[in-house]
Amino acid sequence: MRRVLVIGAKGMLGRDLMGVLRSSLPHGEVVGWDIEEIDIQQEEDTILKIGELQPDTVIHIAAYTDVDGCESNKERAFAVNAEGTKHVALATLRCQAKMVYLSTDYIFDGNKKEPYLEGDSPHPLNVYGHSKLQGERYVQALVKKALIIRTQWLYGRYGRNFVTAILQQAKEKEALSIVNDQMGSPTYTLDLAKAISVLVQLDHQGIFHVANGDACTWYTFGRAILELSGIDKVRVIPISTEELSRRALRPSYSVLNCQKLKRETGLVLRPWLEALGDYLRTYNPY
Ligand SMILES: NC(=O)c1ccc[n+]([C@@H]2O[C@H](COP(=O)([O-])OP(=O)(O)OC[C@H]3O[C@@H](n4cnc5c(N)ncnc54)[C@H](OP(=O)(O)O)[C@@H]3O)[C@@H](O)[C@H]2O)c1
Repeated sequence: MRRVLVIGAKGMLGRDLMGVLRSSLPHGEVVGWDIEEIDIQQEEDTILKIGELQPDTVIHIAAYTDVDGCESNKERAFAVNAEGTKHVALATLRCQAKMVYLSTDYIFDGNKKEPYLEGDSPHPLNVYGHSKLQGERYVQALVKKALIIRTQWLYGRYGRNFVTAILQQAKEKEALSIVNDQMGSPTYTLDLAKAISVLVQLDHQGIFHVANGDACTWYTFGRAILELSGIDKVRVIPISTEELSRRALRPSYSVLNCQKLKRETGLVLRPWLEALGDYLRTYNPY
């Protein structure tokens, strides 16, 4: 029987992924752990616990994901995202299991101005990106059977994200200022979870970019959230990244080229606008 361990199972992606894996692997055992079950910062404990479970596949999606928070808490960013990933990789290696690691578009600097390929050189602009890239490097160096999935701009049913933030602010404000000079692809966690499940079942290894189709700015994304939710009383004002002055630098362009996913699995994630419409029809928290 196949045993899959998901670390980070109670996060935004984790909850969707647990549901998708349990229904797509009906004969396998899917175990979900989060911070209450395992703290990946603890090397010995991580190796011991994963060793006792003896999974065939470890899907590691736990992370310190507060991008601005990482700037002021660099130590925690590296302890969780880099060293924590190393501990999971060491444990996976000992079990001779396969490891899947979730990484990010923020390992790129955005200077390319056309969709990033898996082989493009990383150059993170912020602490979060540096710590996640270090995690990638540990996985590649330590695990024999490794799959690295880079994704971006996630939203979903579980957890605070850009969609919930916009809808919350729409209740409180007459006008919203949203950044219009960063491009990416908003990605629905349920679509991503299904793609992860396919990649795992087809036993793929290496690096894959996975995101919903088409690209936009946060401003366009924000406007679409309001329009699809039938909110027309809120004004949306496009602003620059500089005007927002957040702690972490972000790439102005981080669209991921997902052609490898299509070539090797036949899978193409639907356009972001279609996925967003589906999400809002099903779970609109407004
Ligand atoms: N969100 C995005 O837009 C985005 C974009 C690109 C890539 N990713 C990557 O995708 C993955 C999933 O993201 P997400 O947004 O679903 O993240 P999330 O909602 O923040 O979930 C991460 C989970 O990991 C847990 N965790 C944190 N530190 C831990 C530790 N030391 N040991 C064990 N568990 C720990 C968190 O618990 P607490 O909540 O208690 O801290 C949380 O339940 C992450 O690897 C992230 O880097 C995310």
